[in-house]
Amino acid sequence: MFGLTEIDLGLRILGCGDGPAAFNSELTKRGGNIVSVDPIYAFNAEQIGSRISETYGAVMVQLRENHRDYVWDEIPTVEQLGSIRMSSMATFLADFDAGKQEGRYVLGELPALPFERGSFDLALSSHFLFLYSAHLSAEFHLQALQEMLRVSREVRVFPLLTLEGALSSHLPFVNEHLAKRGFAVEIERVPYEFQRGGNEMLVIRDVQPGRSNRAGSRQVET
Ligand SMILES: C[S@@+](CC[C@H](N)C(=O)[O-])C[C@H]1O[C@@H](n2cnc3c(N)ncnc32)[C@H](O)[C@@H]1O
Repeated sequence: MFGLTEIDLGLRILGCGDGPAAFNSELTKRGGNIVSVDPIYAFNAEQIGSRISETYGAVMVQLRENHRDYVWDEIPTVEQLGSIRMSSMATFLADFDAGKQEGRYVLGELPALPFERGSFDLALSSHFLFLYSAHLSAEFHLQALQEMLRVSREVRVFPLLTLEGALSSHLPFVNEHLAKRGFAVEIERVPYEFQRGGNEMLVIRDVQPGRSNRAGSRQVET
């Protein structure tokens, strides 16, 4: 989703809206440095697990109904996708209590993050910004991205499509405002595509020296 290189995986990474994903657990196991922030971390593992089980059936029905909106090259059936997702969520749930104690799962929500300026090298967000463009305004998106850029020198967002499968109409607004503020904004193609046409990410880099605290950061290769 984010075209992450081995070098990227060695950076200080923030995942915004990571929810019950396995990325934090898996990257931590291989020695990475990652913090995930999400409002669902207000709940405990049991509560999150119950919610996942309750909604599983409805998610599967929706996937079957909208089968043609997705690309089934890597994962050929809805059932296989369901079992991969449940296994990822089990990985998350098994890691959640320890990760919360270690400060890897942090309760918080955009557009205000509970971190110091320059705490991260790379802030990622998947399936939250742009996807819910019908519910979250262009101004919210701009504030959220600026907040991510306050705490991290680079931001990547995937995908750029809405739930309806159209390119988000907020993109020109946020790109123009961020470019005016001196950030380098690019749309880059990535190797992952599940939502049909959703194979691009937005990359925003802070290219103004001295704006953020870069102590301990390294150059990112893309
Ligand atoms: C569709 S899930 C995506 C989870 C994960 N990033 C992925 O790609 O599988 C959207 C996530 O955004 C989180 N979320 C909702 N409002 C948020 C906010 N204001 N700031 C950060 N995350 C939020 C939800 O709790 C949920 O975990």
